[in-house]
Amino acid sequence: MSDTRKILVTSALPYANGPIHLGHMLEHIQTDIWVRFQNSMGNMCTYVCADDTHGTAVMLRAEKEGKTPEDLIESVNADHKRDFAGFLIDHHNYYSTHSDENRYYAEYIYAQLQKNGHISTRNIWQLYDPVKEIFLADRFVKGDCPKCGAQGQYGDACEVCSATYEANELVNPKSVYTGATPEMRESEHYFFELPLFQNMLREWTRSGTLQDSVANKLAEWVDAELQAWDVSRDAPYFGFEIPGSPGKYFYVWLDAPIGYMASFKNLCDRRDDLDFDTYWAVDSKAELYHFIGKDIINFHALFWPAMLESAGFRKPSGVYAHGYVTVNGEKMSKSRGTFIMAKTYLEHLNPEYLRYYYAAKLGSGVEDIDLSLTDFAQRVNSDLVGKVVNIASRCAGFVKKAGGSLSNTVAEPEMLSAFQQAGDRIAEAYERREFSKAVREIMNLADRANEYIQAKAPWSMAKEAGRDQEVLDVCSMGIHLFRLISIYLGPVLPEMNDKVKAFLNVDSLNFTDRDQVLTGHAINKFKPLLTRIEMTQIDALIEASIEDAAAEAAPKAAAANKPATEKKAAPAKTNEPEEIEFGDFAKVDLRVARVLAADHVEGADKLLQLTLDVGTGTPRQVFSGIKSHYQPADLVGKNVIYVFNLKPRKMRFGVSEGMVLAAAGGDQLWVLDASDEVPPGTRVS
Ligand code: MSP
Ligand code: ZN
Repeated sequence: MSDTRKILVTSALPYANGPIHLGHMLEHIQTDIWVRFQNSMGNMCTYVCADDTHGTAVMLRAEKEGKTPEDLIESVNADHKRDFAGFLIDHHNYYSTHSDENRYYAEYIYAQLQKNGHISTRNIWQLYDPVKEIFLADRFVKGDCPKCGAQGQYGDACEVCSATYEANELVNPKSVYTGATPEMRESEHYFFELPLFQNMLREWTRSGTLQDSVANKLAEWVDAELQAWDVSRDAPYFGFEIPGSPGKYFYVWLDAPIGYMASFKNLCDRRDDLDFDTYWAVDSKAELYHFIGKDIINFHALFWPAMLESAGFRKPSGVYAHGYVTVNGEKMSKSRGTFIMAKTYLEHLNPEYLRYYYAAKLGSGVEDIDLSLTDFAQRVNSDLVGKVVNIASRCAGFVKKAGGSLSNTVAEPEMLSAFQQAGDRIAEAYERREFSKAVREIMNLADRANEYIQAKAPWSMAKEAGRDQEVLDVCSMGIHLFRLISIYLGPVLPEMNDKVKAFLNVDSLNFTDRDQVLTGHAINKFKPLLTRIEMTQIDALIEASIEDAAAEAAPKAAAANKPATEKKAAPAKTNEPEEIEFGDFAKVDLRVARVLAADHVEGADKLLQLTLDVGTGTPRQVFSGIKSHYQPADLVGKNVIYVFNLKPRKMRFGVSEGMVLAAAGGDQLWVLDASDEVPPGTRVS
């Protein structure tokens, strides 16, 4: 194993003016997987984040809600933390840019920039709302496009003809706050002299710190002409006032990245094993990575390294941009219900589904990631439930039956070592943020493990006398393979990793454990690890997201005349057959079962003996009166509907445990089957 690396990782700080949605989640899931992977490899990787609390948007939203900005950001912070925890994002600290530490570092860094002659002042003219007495950022002025005349365009660009212009070029401009006609006013602003860092940036952006495509794009800028960056804003503004400059505030984007430091400092103060300078001093040997979206590259790859350089801190080892999340091929849309908030998702679906799906689609580039909801359900069901969990559920029961301990020997040492070696390739893919490649490799392993078990068919062996050891050997082998697959998926599926630890009766399932083999080891009872996604859950999620958008558009109205959850009354029943209560029906436990084997029964002319995988790990045997309609071979591999809780019945040929459902009419008979995507054991209701 390589030396222990010290690594500090961040995700971009979400704005405190709105909820976390599935776009943000892509970034935090990507970062979290990478961090968990590093720690699983035995490195020391720390992950910090915070809310980005400053700026006009937060100030205005607070005003609208009749709150102080402090109250608003505090309640948003609690919501954000709850959402991230719900998605198993393990931030070691989730802090706020409105903190003492952040004020300290913002003031310190700004003082350094000033001292080094990197701050200049100049007067600028800006639109001003004389009623609200506030300078108007481009987005807060609307008017007619100076090029095409389209009405209601913002002060920076026209959405109709795509022209870009200055806010004061708008025809008929109006303040979005008050509708007042803005006037031009002059005020003094502070500028960070970015052009002085051209040489440093030229080198730094090409030194392997950025993705190639990003570096190429930035090169055009850096080589052409950099402009000084306006880092002050006039009151009223929610942020940090600039020391010695009453009424002037740090622009939100000045103190936002400093929030990475502040969050880390706050963590260091609580942790003996972390030291601020080790990670931030100019000669630091630690690694520092920022995971961000493609829209905020300039801030992280130009302004930020230049500020750090000037202030005497180390620069990032890497800035990694990802693309945008689209849903069903389109930009997330409130009206289509595809603007999905983290909270709403969690009310309907397991977080590990999304973690897996994003991982399966994420590469190291900046391409957008499409969350196609049907593909999402299919992928999760077939990969995780159908392939991965299936390995354990097919083997566990036999091990339990044999006493609960794995064999003392490894049935297929070569196969095991191939699986262990695959870990190196998978680790490399994770390291390079090629998660989709890692997932592909892991699913290949899962296929191979399933093929092995299928070929050995321990359920058939188990019926033959004297083969108990062989059954145990095969199933132990299956468990060893399952364990490795679980290790490799650990960074993506941390909760499942914990459940597998409990099942395998081990304390850790890290990449560093992959050379161990649990020969002779006692394992615990197998409990279901993950259930499949039903399309009804997806439909409910979309519906709820449409409601979220409606409630946001009209918060008061929604609260006032919120309809009581109006469920339609059950339609009146006709009185044909005898009615039963729902409870009577609910007593019947129907499940999907897979036919592992079908055999003729000696001396029985109507019966076939079916061996079924019912999802418990222990196959069940059923005698079914279908011999005149089916050849045994027609049934093997089929998914059928099985009455799971029917009392076993002793028959002349053996005990029949439950029954399979069939439709019958005239002299025809059809065994009811379920799609073979449905994993055995799934409840039917
Ligand atoms: N507050 C700034 C970041 C400051 S970092 C010092 C910000 N906040 S944000 O809430 O708008 O976005 C936070 C992160 O989420 C950004 O990296 C952004 O790219 C990402 N995403 C926001 N919407 C997204 C999608 N729809 N898809 C993927 N990522 C997206 O920018
Ligand atoms: Zn226009």
